[in-house]
Amino acid sequence: MESGRPKDVGILAMDIYFPPTCVQQEALEGHDGASKGKYTIGLGQDCMAFCTDVEDVISMSLTVVTSLLKKYQIDPKQIGRLEVGSETVIDKSKSIKTWIMQIFEEYDNTDVEGVDSTNACYGGTAALFNCVNWVESNSWDGRYGLVVCTDSGVYAEGPARPTGGAAAVAMLIGPNAPISFESKYRGTHMSHVYDFYKPNLASEYPSPFPGLLMGSYLRHATLWPLILVITTTAASKFEKFEGKQFSISDSDYFVFHSPYNKLVQKGFARLYFNDFLRNTSVVAKDAKEKLEPFTKLSGDESYESRDLEKASQQVAKPLYDAKVQPSTLLPKQLGNMYTASLYAAFASVIHNKHKTLVGQRIVMFSYGSGLTSTMFSFKLQNGQHPFSLPNIASVLNVSEKLERRHVVSPEKFVETLKLMEHRYGAKDFETSRDTSLLTPGTFYLVNVDSMYRRYYARKNVEEATHGENGSLANGH
Ligand SMILES: CC(C)(COP(=O)(O)OP(=O)(O)OC[C@H]1O[C@@H](n2cnc3c(N)ncnc32)[C@H](O)[C@@H]1OP(=O)(O)O)[C@@H](O)C(=O)NCCC(=O)NCCS
Repeated sequence: MESGRPKDVGILAMDIYFPPTCVQQEALEGHDGASKGKYTIGLGQDCMAFCTDVEDVISMSLTVVTSLLKKYQIDPKQIGRLEVGSETVIDKSKSIKTWIMQIFEEYDNTDVEGVDSTNACYGGTAALFNCVNWVESNSWDGRYGLVVCTDSGVYAEGPARPTGGAAAVAMLIGPNAPISFESKYRGTHMSHVYDFYKPNLASEYPSPFPGLLMGSYLRHATLWPLILVITTTAASKFEKFEGKQFSISDSDYFVFHSPYNKLVQKGFARLYFNDFLRNTSVVAKDAKEKLEPFTKLSGDESYESRDLEKASQQVAKPLYDAKVQPSTLLPKQLGNMYTASLYAAFASVIHNKHKTLVGQRIVMFSYGSGLTSTMFSFKLQNGQHPFSLPNIASVLNVSEKLERRHVVSPEKFVETLKLMEHRYGAKDFETSRDTSLLTPGTFYLVNVDSMYRRYYARKNVEEATHGENGSLANGH
């Protein structure tokens, strides 16, 4: 990069918000009549966050943005671009970004570029790339970019229901970042595939989709070649600039999009098998012996082979524990947060490893059905306060946020989803306004009027009095 251009562009600061309400997967298994261990061992999930009638992707976004600005003491006038990634449809035209603008309008800052990016779970990555590219471009005016990834994933009664989740992640983007992009090594693969999609606009739930009907083969037949293609693309760029073959040993951590944890375990095992096929040094001798019998399988046969799946998971386990497991805390506790899933997984690494991350590399695997995917990497370094890794971990405050959650019964969870089914796309209703579980400063939905306009207030801050333009009258 020529001198005078911003250097080390990336994530300066992060915050995460998730609803205080959750359901235990073990209890849900019993309630749904699933065999014991199916959700917890079979899918690898512990707990699932969900929004009650007072929260949605807009309220979560307002909460997380307000919190990030306050905790890192960022003047809202210093934000020049705001990008949102989400696949939760509240309005087919009005972006979530425009609702968040209420925060900036209060400070007379309306000069904020950016809108929403949507493609399944990939929208957050698209939003992040937009902000990073803006800071690296001639259009950059010296201010910060801000990215919000927010989703509430809910499923109809049935086998996919335990794979819901909800959260919002906010990331501040700028130069000299402690989490900077290695932009040269990005590998992307995008194509037209019907794996998971939501064509029924009358329902918040995904329609029955092939991935659900056809079981693991379709998931593997879509995902495993994809992992090979994007790893090869990213690795060839790495080799071009670094002059050596890329292998798993070149990254300290691997962070995967996580529809459910079992898929992450299998995805990493597939990366390991690919390293074995490419004969990289990371694969130990005894692992080579165990994987050798599978070298004769065709691509298609290898997607179906349960024996290969088991053998590669087994030999990859020590590296999985060291390089992947630190990223799995929040996805296992909160469920599939769609666009926020990858970044909540990344936040888990910061939470678990912030004391030892300086100088390390983290590879990120972003996947959105349909399909869109990118493998990219971060380099971690010391940041200046308040943008230091320990401070980011302290703002994320993951342990305390998890501990103060309220576990509800599966019956109450199902009852809430039933209410939300009626509310989806509805107008002219008031919510329960039950904010008893929300922490002070959390935004919540108050009502939707006869013109479908949504009104939000903030707990323990002077009640919002909303005018015709829907602006928030309360301060930060
Ligand atoms: C979640 C989902 C996989 C469940 O489908 P299903 O057909 O009911 O599940 P399966 O029978 O394949 O069981 C899932 C796993 O649990 C295992 N399992 C089942 N019962 C078990 C038990 N009692 N104990 C331990 N493991 C068990 C299965 O062997 C299987 O493991 P595998 O993946 O290694 O084969 C499916 O609903 C789905 O794909 N959901 C949506 C995810 C998605 O695509 N989201 C899109 C956004 S990214």
